[in-house]
Amino acid sequence: MREDGARSTRRDFLRATTRQAGGVTLGATLPVLAAAVPGCADPPRRARDEWPAIAKLSDVPRDSYIARPHTVASPTGKPLRISVYLRRRNPAIDRANFDDGAPVIAISSLCTHLGCPVRYIAAAARFICPCHGGIFDREGLRLSGPSPRGLDRFYVELRDERVRVGPRFSIPNQ
Ligand code: FES
Repeated sequence: MREDGARSTRRDFLRATTRQAGGVTLGATLPVLAAAVPGCADPPRRARDEWPAIAKLSDVPRDSYIARPHTVASPTGKPLRISVYLRRRNPAIDRANFDDGAPVIAISSLCTHLGCPVRYIAAAARFICPCHGGIFDREGLRLSGPSPRGLDRFYVELRDERVRVGPRFSIPNQ
C-alpha cells in the first residue's frame, strides 16, 4: 500500500513537472515562432480602415524613434504585447524603400532570431538585442549576430494625423 502510494506520488510529480515544463516551453516558444515566421504573429488581415491607431503623427520624431505598445496574435491566437518603433521617413537615413514610401517607418521589436525584444539605443543609433547580441542599424537592417534578417516592419497608414499600423512584413536581406 505504501509502495503504491509512493509510486503514485512519483507519477503525480512527474506528470505535474511535465505539464509545467510543457507550459514553460510553449510560453518560451511563442515569441520564437512569432519572430521566426514572417507574418505569423499578425492578427487576421483586417480591413485597412480597422488598422489600430498607435500614435499621433506629431509625436513621431524624424531622427530617432518612439516606441508604442501594440498587440499581435501569437501563433496560438493569444495576444502578444510588443513594441513598435516609429520614426518619420527621412531621406538622410532611409536608403531603402521597403514600404512604398510610407511617411512613417514602423519597426517590430521582435528580434528575428528567437523573438527577444530589441531596444533602440539612440546614442549608438542601433537596435540591440540583449539575448544573443544581435545588432541592427537604425533602419533595422541586420549588422551582426545570429538573426537571419533585419527587423520586421508594419504597413502604415496616416489618417486624421494618427499613425495606424497594419500587417507585419519582413524586409529582404541586404
Ligand atoms: S533573440 Fe535576438 S539575437 Fe537571439
